[in-house]
Amino acid sequence: MKNVSKKFPGVTALDGISFDIMPGEVHVLLGENGAGKSTLMKILSGVHKPTGGSITVGGRSYDSLSPKDARECGISVIYQELSVIDELSIQENLFVVNLPCKKLGPFELVDYGEMKCRTKALLAKVGLKADPETLVEQLSISEKQQVEIAKALAADSRIIIMDEPTTSLTSSEVSHLFDVIRELKKEGAGIVFISHKLGEIIEIGDRVTVLKDGTLVGTKDVAQVTQDDLVAMMVGRQISSSYQHENADFEKAQTIFEVRKLSRKDGKVKDVSFRLRRGEILGFSGLVGSGRSEMMNCIFGAEPKASGEIFLNGKKINSSTPYRAIKNGLAMVTENRRQTGFFHNFSIMKNISILPFVKRSTLGGIGGLVNRRNEENWAEEQKQRLSIKCYSTRQNITELSGGNQQKVILGKWLAADSKIIIFDEPTKGIDVGSKGEIYTLMRALADEGRGVLVVSSELPELLAVCDTIAVFREGRIVAVFPRAQATEEKIIAASTAEKGEISNDKI
Ligand SMILES: Nc1ncnc2c1ncn2[C@@H]1O[C@H](COP(=O)(O)OP(=O)(O)OP(=O)(O)O)[C@@H](O)[C@H]1O
Ligand SMILES: [Mg+2]
Repeated sequence: MKNVSKKFPGVTALDGISFDIMPGEVHVLLGENGAGKSTLMKILSGVHKPTGGSITVGGRSYDSLSPKDARECGISVIYQELSVIDELSIQENLFVVNLPCKKLGPFELVDYGEMKCRTKALLAKVGLKADPETLVEQLSISEKQQVEIAKALAADSRIIIMDEPTTSLTSSEVSHLFDVIRELKKEGAGIVFISHKLGEIIEIGDRVTVLKDGTLVGTKDVAQVTQDDLVAMMVGRQISSSYQHENADFEKAQTIFEVRKLSRKDGKVKDVSFRLRRGEILGFSGLVGSGRSEMMNCIFGAEPKASGEIFLNGKKINSSTPYRAIKNGLAMVTENRRQTGFFHNFSIMKNISILPFVKRSTLGGIGGLVNRRNEENWAEEQKQRLSIKCYSTRQNITELSGGNQQKVILGKWLAADSKIIIFDEPTKGIDVGSKGEIYTLMRALADEGRGVLVVSSELPELLAVCDTIAVFREGRIVAVFPRAQATEEKIIAASTAEKGEISNDKI
């Protein structure tokens, strides 16, 4: 890509960027939220037309590529916002643009046998144990991400773009993905890898190109840079990429939130009890599917519980629906941004102000009058607080970069002034600089006396923000570590151990 530019109304997303990919390499694209990474890759895959510059693939030059050109050039993408189709089966998702067919007289029929067989091989490659005919809607978000990866492999591509492929994967799934990437490199594919996790970049990258505000900062060999160099290139100044844990004093504090013997009918959560003290941040670790998000969904009333009780400040509360939960002072940043995170056709302002509005309304969230000025104030306040990058809060939320969409979702729940905030993968897609700010914010919320519960697949994140870490395995809490005793090794051992030989302190 030579001198590529892209202007959107109100913003120059890219300004004269040159970027190349060689066979057999992993070229990392790095930059803060809104730097232009996804836009550059959308130009390469034919989603956006550039406003200037040229693209040359395998010796042929183009002013712009159509999605079809890109496909024919052997370019495929794993998008930041998953693009799998829920209503179709896994195998149909993999081959939707290129169905294997067989001739039957004058007819051409879809060859389901062939499709199933090739799907099985691809799923084995990405490490997903599922039947090819399973409907995608039945899969968890990390499994969907694996399907997304398999889809890119199905196209037999020369260039594979991975836009934050690891946001929903746990460490074992990430290392599996890296094995797949190494295999693809051997086969001569060129891979573009976008991630905000610097450790991953150092591990898997060959070269790294850094963007800042739509301009090119530079390209370097990964072997010659440290994590701190990368951060300095990204933000244009020296900041540390690691966070210091602050010790909170909550030992004798009163319990503000308690869950007693919570179970789900489907067995995904079994007899879970925990309590949260004032000032404490409680984290939940575990493998994907171990029951963490499933439990949070129950607490928030998004999915039914079979038994169990929930107490807020000693008072039993009813949170049988999300509406009741919100009214009772609960908030939940969900892990699936696109599906349950925000309202697609709403502006940033509407997305943020909907909660204070629902909370105040007495008619099930539909009645009442909207005060435009209030809406603007709520939105502006969150924009400042979280440094959301946009040119107006009246912009549609889908026009924002992934990380900035995530910030709007955080802003929405902060505007709700809730008593207990559940953060499920809160910093998904958030750049390193802003991550630190969000951790500081969570600590401030806890200090104010709000309850903060965090589910995260990133152990460094849990170790940085939480005072106590509970480990889930097969729907139960199997271990609890105060921060001082928690290490990555201990947590991993607890989440994968076959037998529960680990101490089970009461929280
Ligand atoms: N469809 C669009 N309409 C208007 N502006 C857009 C659109 N898509 C992207 N932008 C703007 O272009 C800029 C670059 O966005 P982009 O999505 O490329 O960032 P990114 O580097 O991928 O960030 P992140 O790490 O948050 O995913 C942002 O300011 C964004 O708001
Ligand atoms: Mg992006």
